[in-house]
Amino acid sequence: MIRTAAVLAILLLGTGAPLQAQGPTEQPHPWEPVIIEPMEREFLNSCASCHGRDGTGAGFLTRLFRGIDPGDLTQLSARNDGTFPMERIFSVIDGRTEVAAHGDRQMPVWGDRYMDAVMSEYGPDEINETRVRNRIYELVHYLQSIQAVDAEPEN
Ligand code: HEC
Repeated sequence: MIRTAAVLAILLLGTGAPLQAQGPTEQPHPWEPVIIEPMEREFLNSCASCHGRDGTGAGFLTRLFRGIDPGDLTQLSARNDGTFPMERIFSVIDGRTEVAAHGDRQMPVWGDRYMDAVMSEYGPDEINETRVRNRIYELVHYLQSIQAVDAEPEN
């Protein structure tokens, strides 16, 4: 094991290629407290099985069911000219209107799931819809926080 790691390290260093910065997955500096955001927990609970713990698409369900491609959730901004497509991502996660429009979707309809969850927690309540939207927005903000950042422009 140790020897393999050493050989690997030599191989990697030997190429002379600069190691790529890992963006948001980079370890925090040791003096920074590690903050586990609540929505990171929700992401790990509900989304990582398909999207991978880092959102890049390598969850175990994705590996299990070949042909399911959940995309790379760290590239949403990059694929949208550098702007995070907030509204679109909200409605993709929510899914309630989208399903009506296309009827074809491999991802669970989170708007329905979260509505079921708040219904069983609070009963019928006029602010349930707000609760559901808040949960989805928190996930949207979490996804925004894990977008791959462009490399610093060289000059
Ligand atoms: C059962 C597997 C599965 C789970 C669990 C899942 N997704 Fe997905 N997701 C997909 C698939 C597959 C797609 C690709 C579109 C499609 O086929 O529905 C997708 C697409 C997406 C997209 C659109 C990506 C793009 O490029 O436009 C977003 C955003 C997203 N998922 C967020 C989430 C969030 C947030 C959760 C957790 C609350 C979640 N997903 C849970 C399978 C899943």
